[in-house]
Amino acid sequence: MTNDSWWSDAVVYQVYLRSFADGDGDGVGDLAGLRTRLGHLVDLGVDALWLNPCYVSPQRDHGYDIADYFAIDPTYGTTDDLVDLVAEAHRRGLRVLLDLVPNHCSTEHPWFREALGAPVGSQQRERFVLRDGRGPGGALPPNNWQSVFGGPAWTRLADGQWYLHSFDASQPDFNWRDASVRAYFEDVLRFWFGLGVDGFRIDVAHGLVVAEHLPDLPADGAVDRHPMWDQPEVHEIYRTWRRIAQEYRPDPKYFIGELWVDGTERLRPYLAPDELHQAFCFDLLVQPWDADRLAGAVRSGLATADELGAPAAWTLNNHDVHRVVSRYGQVQDLSAPDPQDLLAAARRTGPVDLAVGAARARAAVMLLLALPGSVYLYQGEELGLPEVLDLPDDVRQDPIWVRSGGRELGRDGCRVPLPWRADAPRLGFSDPTGAAPWLPAPDWFAGYAVDRQARDDGSFLALYRRLVRGRREVFAPGAPLRWVDHPDPAVLAFTRGAGLCLVNVGGDDLPLAPELEQAVVARSGTAGGLVRDSAVWIDTARVPGGLRSVAWDVPSGAGAPARA
Ligand code: NOJ
Repeated sequence: MTNDSWWSDAVVYQVYLRSFADGDGDGVGDLAGLRTRLGHLVDLGVDALWLNPCYVSPQRDHGYDIADYFAIDPTYGTTDDLVDLVAEAHRRGLRVLLDLVPNHCSTEHPWFREALGAPVGSQQRERFVLRDGRGPGGALPPNNWQSVFGGPAWTRLADGQWYLHSFDASQPDFNWRDASVRAYFEDVLRFWFGLGVDGFRIDVAHGLVVAEHLPDLPADGAVDRHPMWDQPEVHEIYRTWRRIAQEYRPDPKYFIGELWVDGTERLRPYLAPDELHQAFCFDLLVQPWDADRLAGAVRSGLATADELGAPAAWTLNNHDVHRVVSRYGQVQDLSAPDPQDLLAAARRTGPVDLAVGAARARAAVMLLLALPGSVYLYQGEELGLPEVLDLPDDVRQDPIWVRSGGRELGRDGCRVPLPWRADAPRLGFSDPTGAAPWLPAPDWFAGYAVDRQARDDGSFLALYRRLVRGRREVFAPGAPLRWVDHPDPAVLAFTRGAGLCLVNVGGDDLPLAPELEQAVVARSGTAGGLVRDSAVWIDTARVPGGLRSVAWDVPSGAGAPARA
């Protein structure tokens, strides 16, 4: 598989805007704040940034509930601010991706309001999935579908009909069988592409179309294709979008899908050459810290990428899961995750050993950045931020927390505003004379502040900068991964070009042969050798005699697929 487009081996930095930097003192991060801190991304060496949704929204699900797809929410700035940000980012060598939310909008979107005022059967109602209920007086929902955020996927309107919402009740699903919905989103794409945006991350990209007659799910949930997701008609939509993306020459626009579908065959049509460019590979993110499980996820991600001809997009963190330092610092759950609920598995609670979690997270990012394909980083992971698990109940805002009646913590703990300056009020996130940050950062966040880490060569930030900036020199872009047969089953070992990556996943402390030790170009910890929960990158061109001369049993030419 070859692909020399900019995104095929890019590092993309995810900006959760409301928590990145507050430029106007209202306690919420914004475009002005991001613009002044763009240097942080440049210093890190990333190629692009992806902005979570920042369009006009009542913020019930922090921007994933959109009331106007053609304007920036005043909390974040203006559409002109976005245009300026894109121009500035481009000047500094960064591409800009926005987040597109086509599955649902906000109950405050003018179309939904119009639908509420329009008669049953009208064109205005056709844009949403509105149905009569079942049972006496239609008092029961039209079917038994459940919302991803918990509870029924239907809410009843005052006039008696029900509307479908695969997420929160504030997020009515569009009816993608309606032509006006399709035309509307084509306009949305052209609007933002016209302003210079380089591409979109597509939210719930497998969700748009639902099964035509809205069939109930069988009681045991066993279906070949869930009627809410992954319907074949979605592909025609993406083919149209791809044609639009290709209109931009010489630099076509780009799409990456948030796709939760079962296996390579279901993914195949989404990544056909005339649909989306990439899909997130979440399989690695949901694995515990275990050599076989991690190797398995890498192997299957690479096999899928090869088979479908679309470079993998790896990630360990995002705004929907607990931060990796905390996940890896827990007792690892080696039972097979329930495929229905992979995200919930990445939001487990339980005691956390931060030192262990941090060591593992540092090693894991060395694995990630050595892999072929692109890597998506989530803001704050470059600081090694742990999940904030003990936010006071009354500040939590996530609909998952609200809809589960507090049984599930949800996602607020990975969305706490970033600490920029250890000694500044509000840790430099926002102006001390303005409103309090929308979520409070704990005092201990000071220890993770950017300014403190920038002065410390052993910090997370220093490691991330070295790795992101140096990875293309060590692992030649486009070079395939070849597993190396290491005698210790806890060690993941592979080469790409002249680069060798070794990760000790929970094994015993191991020595490194002297000829390897002197060719180490990056390491996750400070100790020499390959200690438990650490990783090293080695330049094999500096190993006298090459890898074959090394003291462990490497089969001919570091090329054998030992972990098959
Ligand atoms: C997936 C997004 O990543 C998540 O944050 C959001 O709540 C849901 N989609 C609904 O839009």
